[in-house]
Amino acid sequence: MKFFIDTANLEEIKKAKALGILDGVTTNPSLISKESIDKEWIMDHYISICDLLEDEEDLSAEIISTNYVDMIQEGEKLSLLHPKIVVKIPMCEDGIKAIKFLSKKNIKTNCTLVFSIGQAILAAKSGSYYVSPFVGRLDDISHNGLSLIKDIKIIYDNYHFKTNILAASIRHPLHITECAKIGIHAVTSPLNVISNLVQHPLTNIGLDKFLKDYKNKF
Ligand code: G3P
Repeated sequence: MKFFIDTANLEEIKKAKALGILDGVTTNPSLISKESIDKEWIMDHYISICDLLEDEEDLSAEIISTNYVDMIQEGEKLSLLHPKIVVKIPMCEDGIKAIKFLSKKNIKTNCTLVFSIGQAILAAKSGSYYVSPFVGRLDDISHNGLSLIKDIKIIYDNYHFKTNILAASIRHPLHITECAKIGIHAVTSPLNVISNLVQHPLTNIGLDKFLKDYKNKF
């Protein structure tokens, strides 16, 4: 199971990298907007993120264009920026066409803002390398985000679709462990969710006791 961090913050990426379990980074326009950089430095910022990554790791960087012609131009520009960049494209009719075009040119894409089975099928049919269903945002509106993940996995397996399921909008460790049970390719989550996976109160209590017993005797 691959672990991505959902951020554009270099320090957070370095912290996750230091754990030794990171497989890549995903960003979006909201996340990049949180960083203290001017617009003209965004491309350099993507390069700085890529420079932190190793072989087999990638960065999903999202386009902001909304029509087909601009989408493919922006996608090509992003892909030329660094070999580790996967072009993240929103689910919409022009987005599907852009994914198809870029995939045919062997440019990896990540179809984002996916909230339904139908959208996931279209992402796969268009040849997207990743599909990003948003688990947490579905939960937010009282839908079942994990149920969507399960359904996409069944359908992709049924038809041997090659698109990799990258569950996004992950809010807590249970989202990650349930995704692992479903057997999807990857999850992307904020650093605090990855950190929370480490924690268990019995681990802390157990460690305190081990150290106390040792110090009492020696
Ligand atoms: O990067 C897309 C997705 O992970 C966003 O998550 O928490 O803003 O719903 P969130």
